[in-house]
Amino acid sequence: MSAVDVPVALLGYGTVGSAVDRLLAENAEDIERATGHRLRVVHALVRDPEKERPHRPPAGVLTTDFAAIREDPSVALVAEVMGGIEPTGGYVLDLLRAGKPVVSANKQLIAREGAELFRTASEAGVQLRFEASVCAAIPVIKILREALVATNVHRVLGIVNGTTNFILTKMEEGAEYFEALAEAKRLGYAEADPTEDVNGADAAAKMAILATIAFGSRVTLADVAYDGIEAVTGAHVAAAREMEMVVRLIGAATLVDGKLDVRVGPALVDRHHPLAAVEGAMNAVMLQGDAIREITLEGPGAGGMETASAVVADMVSVIGTTGTGFLQNDACWRELPRLPPEEARSPYYVRIDVDDRAGVLAHVALRLAEQDVSIARLIQHQANGEAALHIVTHEASTGHLQAALGAIAGLPETRGAPSALPVVSDRGVPGLGWA
Ligand code: NAP
Ligand code: HSE
Repeated sequence: MSAVDVPVALLGYGTVGSAVDRLLAENAEDIERATGHRLRVVHALVRDPEKERPHRPPAGVLTTDFAAIREDPSVALVAEVMGGIEPTGGYVLDLLRAGKPVVSANKQLIAREGAELFRTASEAGVQLRFEASVCAAIPVIKILREALVATNVHRVLGIVNGTTNFILTKMEEGAEYFEALAEAKRLGYAEADPTEDVNGADAAAKMAILATIAFGSRVTLADVAYDGIEAVTGAHVAAAREMEMVVRLIGAATLVDGKLDVRVGPALVDRHHPLAAVEGAMNAVMLQGDAIREITLEGPGAGGMETASAVVADMVSVIGTTGTGFLQNDACWRELPRLPPEEARSPYYVRIDVDDRAGVLAHVALRLAEQDVSIARLIQHQANGEAALHIVTHEASTGHLQAALGAIAGLPETRGAPSALPVVSDRGVPGLGWA
């Protein structure tokens, strides 16, 4: 029996778009055997069709004319792999309104404009899928939306940006920050503008999407407190190593007494923690819930072919599901309040530079004790009459820690401003101790 011919279009033919075309062509027979359909790229929107490309589609496929794609009645679905918010968002809305299902790899678009996009898809009765927007090859969206639909997920913890994890791993091996970033760009891991990778915005968008699905309440990029790795230095990496930890960019989405807390930032991760073993451009997501206790998914988090595998899987799912199945519906069904930032709790790594003389440690310890911040570990380095205190605290509220650091900064023997990073040292689920 001959396969059903399915003409498809791509918005974008860069790292991901060209890999989608290759994957569809190279695996056409496997897809046909499994689904009875043959997906064929007939248009790919680009800015410059004449540009040198490592992989070129047949003549006539590359176009700069978006309307030609929207108006082509033969195009059964479109993969948006061009990135950016505008004109991309307008194109996706136009396609949905024209009745064309869309698959997107664009985490910024989904995290910022998700409400309007899903409403439009629903009104038009077409599917909008976005597996590739989070953690590239890891099918975490499908697992959260389908496999864990009956599970009360209350925490998502992970490493969700490949570029920064690659840079931090390279820094552990002795590479310089900018040298490692350049390599991540060359390997196709980084965004077109890598600012969003290194400042945490890329990971924040992914955590907003994961939190939205996990908790069924809309979380946009604006709801995520995020920080990147720009301020992480070789000294942080060395201090972490000395305390048997590694520095990682950690995303955490937590339900605390029915309140949402979603954040991204650099943290010290204990060497024995599963996330410490995630290296290079790999990502990992730990899903914690009542019935499942904990499920960890790990896999390639960036790269053309890695991302294309998720795009193609979504395309096949769209073709393979008819009508308006539940997967295209908006995942949100409630509104949750936000946890005040000062109420978030974590163990912390704190660095304080002080004069090296009698009583100073007692003054520092007293300021911590006054705010109910308890010391778990302490290392001191001395040189030239100065001491650097490296302290790891037990779990403390962020507000209390900041108050203690404020008081310590005001001590006459404190030199410069104390700094703090959260520490990831357990999984936050009773009975799941790893030590
Ligand atoms: P890319 O290599 O920069 O490719 C972007 C493509 O879109 C290019 O073909 C470009 O055309 C085209 N394009 C951009 N703006 C356009 C416009 N205004 N009009 C027409 N065409 C336009 O980017 P990428 O790495 O493939 O990423 C694409 C998307 O996938 C982004 O949303 C990204 O966040 C997401 N993603 C990427 C990865 C990854 O590892 N790279 C992983 C997961 C998700 P030209 O070729 O003519 O410049
Ligand atoms: N730039 C992103 C990263 C691509 O490094 O994780 C995957 O979304």
